[in-house]
Amino acid sequence: MKAVVLESFGKLELRDLPAPSPAAGQVLVRIRAASLNYRDLLMVKGGYGSLAKPPFVPVSDGAGEVSEVGPGVTRVKPGDRVVMSFFQKWLAGPAQRLDPQAVPDKAPLGGPHDGTLREFGVFDEQGVSVIPDHLSYEEAACLPCAGLTAWSAVVAQATTEPGDVVVTQGTGGVSVFALQFAKLRGCRVIATSSSEEKITRLKAIGADVTINYKTTPEWGKAARAATGGRGVDQVVEVGGAGTLAQSIRATRFGGTLSMIGVLGGAAGEMPVALIVMNNLRLQGVTVGSRADLDQMLRAIGTARLKPVVDTAFPMEKWADAMAHMSAGKHFGKVCITVG
Ligand SMILES: NC(=O)c1ccc[n+]([C@@H]2O[C@H](COP(=O)([O-])OP(=O)(O)OC[C@H]3O[C@@H](n4cnc5c(N)ncnc54)[C@H](OP(=O)(O)O)[C@@H]3O)[C@@H](O)[C@H]2O)c1
Repeated sequence: MKAVVLESFGKLELRDLPAPSPAAGQVLVRIRAASLNYRDLLMVKGGYGSLAKPPFVPVSDGAGEVSEVGPGVTRVKPGDRVVMSFFQKWLAGPAQRLDPQAVPDKAPLGGPHDGTLREFGVFDEQGVSVIPDHLSYEEAACLPCAGLTAWSAVVAQATTEPGDVVVTQGTGGVSVFALQFAKLRGCRVIATSSSEEKITRLKAIGADVTINYKTTPEWGKAARAATGGRGVDQVVEVGGAGTLAQSIRATRFGGTLSMIGVLGGAAGEMPVALIVMNNLRLQGVTVGSRADLDQMLRAIGTARLKPVVDTAFPMEKWADAMAHMSAGKHFGKVCITVG
């Protein structure tokens, strides 16, 4: 089978590897599509800490069809269309409340475990979930990381109610899903972007209010003004240190900041006094469990929600796909068609 292998940091090679076969409790998936996350770009460069050591197959997210099952498998059967769960061993949570030893094993696919830029992969049957019929493999491949992270912030950990106001930042994979899920829950969405062209697209997928954060650096103030001065109920924070001050400015007394990303910096000043005085809740989000993934897939199937795919590149063009994502030209998800 063909596989892209990260031989050493910065060095990706297309290789012919032996196709794996499933043991008891495992399934063989013919991978059809992958999607890129910001994490994958860092992982290739060696900028994601010491978690993963090459060689390994990069890219966390993927979808395909079950081509063979090992003895004892009951969760799926050959022919089923599936996605692979980001944290293969975090089945449901938060288990630690009941059992102090039950910290979920949160080692993802795409480093340290082999990821999805390969034609076949063997996974534990507990690590795959059947996808809704209306999704293409590329659309489904957007779900395990970016989709589930947004779902966790907006739905699974929700502090909002229908009619509340949610801010999304930029037009990357997580933020576009956050907009879609917030609309699904009946929330009003204020969406930001640095591009007027992308703002037109944000409106087309349901943004109620849009703000250009480049031409309006005080976008937090503008978002608050758009709520009549009350403040927004939730900010889905992907900018990190670069956006936190404006996010706090935007948020109402008692509102929630869902801390997801670091696109604008991983460390910076924390305006503690404002957080205290405004009774704000800072909620960390780290993707989600397999149980959350299943719940999200069920909701997407019911609503027939379509992930927003910017471009799908063929597998041999993995470098072009990564360059496209690095350039920040995308709206939604960048995919790779495998095989
Ligand atoms: N915690 C978790 O479990 C988890 C899971 C997935 C991702 N993440 C993190 O979440 C972040 C977003 O990931 P992604 O895959 O969605 O990224 P992405 O697709 O690469 O998002 C890029 C877009 O974000 C916007 N952006 C960049 N810098 C910004 C800033 N300073 N302020 C506001 N918007 C900005 C830009 O949108 P415009 O072009 O429209 O301006 C840019 O095109 C990353 O830091 C990633 O590591 C965390």
